[in-house]
Amino acid sequence: MDGRSVAGALADGPRTAIRMTMNGAQTRDVDGAEGRPPLVDPFGRAISYLRVSVTDRCDFRCVYCMSEHMSFLPKADVLSLEELDRLCSAFVARGVRKLRLTGGEPLVRRGIMTLVNALARHLRSGDLDELTLTTNGSQLAKYAADLQAAGVRRLNVSLDTLDADKFRAITRWGELNQVLAGIDAAQAAGLKIKINAVALKGVNDDEFPQLIEWAHGRGVDLTLIEVMPLGEIGEGRLEQYLPLSMVRARLAERFTLDEIDYRTGGPARYVRVAETGGRLGFITPLTHNFCESCNRVRVTCTGTLYMCLGQEDAADLRKPLRASEGNDLLFAAIDEAIGRKPKGHDFVIDRRHQRPALSRHMSVTGG
Ligand SMILES: C[S@@+](CC[C@H](N)C(=O)[O-])C[C@H]1O[C@@H](n2cnc3c(N)ncnc32)[C@H](O)[C@@H]1O
Ligand code: SF4
Repeated sequence: MDGRSVAGALADGPRTAIRMTMNGAQTRDVDGAEGRPPLVDPFGRAISYLRVSVTDRCDFRCVYCMSEHMSFLPKADVLSLEELDRLCSAFVARGVRKLRLTGGEPLVRRGIMTLVNALARHLRSGDLDELTLTTNGSQLAKYAADLQAAGVRRLNVSLDTLDADKFRAITRWGELNQVLAGIDAAQAAGLKIKINAVALKGVNDDEFPQLIEWAHGRGVDLTLIEVMPLGEIGEGRLEQYLPLSMVRARLAERFTLDEIDYRTGGPARYVRVAETGGRLGFITPLTHNFCESCNRVRVTCTGTLYMCLGQEDAADLRKPLRASEGNDLLFAAIDEAIGRKPKGHDFVIDRRHQRPALSRHMSVTGG
C-alpha cells in the first residue's frame, strides 16, 4: 500500500487525503505544525507519549472496568479512523515519540489495521519510536501477524488469571483459551509481550506465584496493577482493592525480589525475580505518586484530551478537529490544554460514600 492515500483506504471520508500519504514523506508537514515547538507542560515535562482510546466498546465486561450493561457512545460522537489518524499525527508532529492504541478493546474497532498501517508511516519516517497497543488478547490470533508486519513490536496483554472459570467470572464474557491462543500467536509472530494483571482481593491474589512462573517461563514480563477508582461499576471498590505493598510482601516470602533500575518510561517499578530470572512490575497509583516524570497524555475515542489519568480536567479536541480542514485550531487547543497539565493526581477511594474518585470508566481513557 506504500504511497497510497490513506483516505483511499479509510472508509470515513477523503477530507485530509493530501496530508496523509503512506510513504512517510509528509509526516512533518502536518498543516499548522510548522514552527511550533515540541509540547512541554508548565512543569517542564516533555509530552512524548500519547495513549489513544480508539473505541469505548469491548468484547469483555471486566468487573473492575465496566458494568454488565454498559451503554456505548453513538457512532457520530466517535472519531472516524481518519480523524484519529489526523489527531495522532498532529501529536507526532509536536514531539510525541510513542503512541499506544487502547480502548475499550482496540482490536474490535472496525478497520483498526487501516489505522495501524496508516500510523506506521511515522515509524518508517523516524518521527515515532514506537507504535503499540494494549489489548485483552481476544483478537490477537487474527491480528498478530498483521501487527508485526505493520511495524508493531510490543504489546501489552491484560490477563488477570490462568483459571478458565475465574477468567470468565472476571471478564464476564471472555474465553481464556482464546486469549492464550492470541498470546501464542503474538509470540510466534515475533511480538514482544508484557502481561498486565489487575490485583483483585479474594479473586486472583492466590495466583500471583503461578502467574509469575507462567509469564517468566515464556520470557514475558508481568506487571501487577492496583485497582483504580474509575467509574461506577456496580460493585464495591473497597472489596476489590488490594494494596500491592501487601502482595509484594507476600511474594517476597516465596521469591527473591531484587530491586532493579529498569524503567519503561511508565509508572511501573520493577524487580527481578531471582528464581525465574524474569521482571515483575508494580503499578501502584493509590499508594505511590508516580507523577514526577509523567510524559503522557490520553485522548478518548471522542477526541477528549485528558492531561492526567487521575484528574477530571479535559479539553475537547474533536470540535477544533472537525471545525476546519487545517490544524491551526487543533494545535491551539492542544497547546492550551498542555499548558494546564496538572502536577499530579489525587486518587482516593471515597470510603464514606463508596463512590469512585472519578466518574469516568477506564474504558474511556484506556488506562
Ligand atoms: C481499559 S483496558 C483497555 C485495553 C484492553 N481492553 C485491555 O483490557 O487490555 C486497559 C487496562 O486497564 C486496566 N483496568 C481497567 N479498569 C481498571 C481499574 N479500575 N483499575 C485498574 N486497572 C484497570 C485493564 O486491566 C487493562 O490492563
Ligand atoms: S479491561 Fe479491557 S477487556 Fe476488560 S472490559 Fe475493560 S476494556 Fe474490556
